[in-house]
Formats: sequence, C-alpha cells, structure tokens
Amino acid sequence: MRKTILTGIKPTGQVHLGNYIGAIKPALELAKAADYKAAYFVADYHGLTKINNPEEFRHLSYGIAATWLALGLDPNKVIFYRQSDVPEIFELNWILSCFTSKGLMNRAHAYKAIVDSNKRLDKDIDFGVNMGLFNYPILMAADILMFKTEVVPVGKDQVQHVEIARDIAESFNNSYGETFLLPEYKIQDDTAVLPGLDGRKMSKSYKNTIPLFEDPKKLQKLINKIKTDSLPPEAPKNPDISVLFMLYKEFATFVEVEKMKEQYIKGIGWGEAKKELFNVMNRFIEEPREKYNELMSSPEKIDKILKEGAEKARAISVPFLKEIKSKIGF
Ligand code: TRP
Repeated sequence: MRKTILTGIKPTGQVHLGNYIGAIKPALELAKAADYKAAYFVADYHGLTKINNPEEFRHLSYGIAATWLALGLDPNKVIFYRQSDVPEIFELNWILSCFTSKGLMNRAHAYKAIVDSNKRLDKDIDFGVNMGLFNYPILMAADILMFKTEVVPVGKDQVQHVEIARDIAESFNNSYGETFLLPEYKIQDDTAVLPGLDGRKMSKSYKNTIPLFEDPKKLQKLINKIKTDSLPPEAPKNPDISVLFMLYKEFATFVEVEKMKEQYIKGIGWGEAKKELFNVMNRFIEEPREKYNELMSSPEKIDKILKEGAEKARAISVPFLKEIKSKIGF
C-alpha cells in the first residue's frame, strides 16, 4: 500500500532559492516516489494570520501555486489544492478544537516565542497575538487528519505541530474509537543549507535571499552583491570556504563542479566566478521562470488546476467528515 503524504505551503513571502533547494525540491522528489500518494496544498488560511493586505494575499497565494507548478508538480499525480476550497477542513477545525486543551496551545513554539519576547520587552504577554496565530496548530491538525495522512514532510520548525496533531487525534480517538490515523513527520534533510548573499543561511528573516524567479538582470545584480574576500584574481582560492562555490555546486553538473574546483585552486577572479555562477543558475531557472510568468499572467489557469484538485480532495473530505459527525452524534 502506498503511504499518504501531505504538506502545506504557507503563502507569506516570495519564494527564494533556499526554499527550492531545501524544501520544494525534496518534496517534489518524494511526490514522485512510487511508494507515496501525495497531497500538497496552498495553506492560504494559515497565511491570513500574517498577511492582511488583499492584493498581497492574492498575489502570494497564486505565487505559491504557480511556483510549485512551474517547478514540476504534476497535478495529475499529486492532489494539489487550495485549503480554502475545502470547507470541511474548517468544520473539522472546530471539532478538533473541542478536543485540544488550551495548555497544549500555550506550549506551542510559535506562540511561546512571542510571549517570551513580550515578557522581555515588558509588554502584555499576548501583545500582537491574534487567535488565528494561537489556534494555528489546530487548523494544521485538521489539514493533516482530514486526509488520513501517514507522513508529513516538514522542516524542523514544524515537527512540534505534527506532534500536536497526533495528540489531538488521540484525544478524539479516546472518546469515539479509532477514527484518525496518527501522522508521522519526515524531516527534510538539512544537508542542503544554501548560503545567502551574506554567507549566512539564505532566509527571509536575514534579508539575504535570491528570489527564485528573478529576471536575469536582477539575478546578475544580486549575484554581484555576494560577499567575497579581497584576494587578487591570480591568487589560489579555497573552494570549500567560498559562498560562490557552494552556490555553484547546487546548480552545476558534476563535471562543471570538478572543473571549477581546479580553477579556484589555480586562481580565478571573483568577477569571473560570479559570471559562471550566474550562467548555471540562470540556466536552471530559465524554463521554470517562463512557466511561472505565464501562469501568473493567467491566474484562471491556476484556478482551474486548484479547483480540480479541490474536487479530488473533497471526494475524501466530504464522506470522512460525515463519518466523524455521525460518531459525535449529529
Ligand atoms: N505550518 C506550515 C508552515 O509554516 C504550513 C502548513 C499548514 C502545513 N498546514 C500544514 C504543513 C499541514 C504540513 C501539513 O510551513
């Protein structure tokens, strides 16, 4: 039996190369593996806890969908939908909230981090916390449990959320008998931590990212901004400590990487190394960028794909919610 894997992608920012290498690429590979049945979705209602501007919300939601499609997600193989198109999830969200102790939510990392920071700043502990943020893990549990998910591929920061989903599932099952499957998480490999413009991990919070679908001119400009040392062109350089080389490795072929290594050791000018990096990055991005731009300019195409996905998702969620409600006594 193929296992069900499911993951949600929150539309709260522009997707960058670090997201692609660290999260999107491995998730797409998992979805292709023969032993999984995959469901990937745009977690738009989760985004609402942060984004309050309608234009931005729309743009980011479409942007996430277009990114996955442009990078090769096949909607015929993966159930690909928008969370807000599957209303049963929100009904389940309420049901689950009645089986979630408030203390469990008090201990959720994202909420606790804000409380701690408020305490340090001598503010009310709940300053800046809306109930969407507080209840975030329950909605995520509904996402996961609705589709009898067995495996949730996530980053380390989301592990606790999957554990919370297990706790909530158990609490419901204790009252009504085996209903929900207990999901497991699969941590996405950390080996491919992509350095950003300043050499630290590429991350939105460090403002050091290279957006995935940047046009070639801007891409070149960003690459030119990558920090290097002041060695002259002819000086031998150590590829293992060069950010340019670390990035190059992710996008070049094996043969290209070996050759570049030799050039570093012989001595290569940083300008030249940057040009070479641009070439391999741009080569990789070119095709998906075109597809992305095409999708973004006709959002009705994205809508159609997501609607079809939602129909497939609802073929599961409608009967399952009915079963759950009849157990409760509706
Ligand atoms: N919380 C996840 C994130 O921030 C997004 C998400 C929402 C999710 N629902 C999910 C991930 C269900 C896995 C399963 O990235």
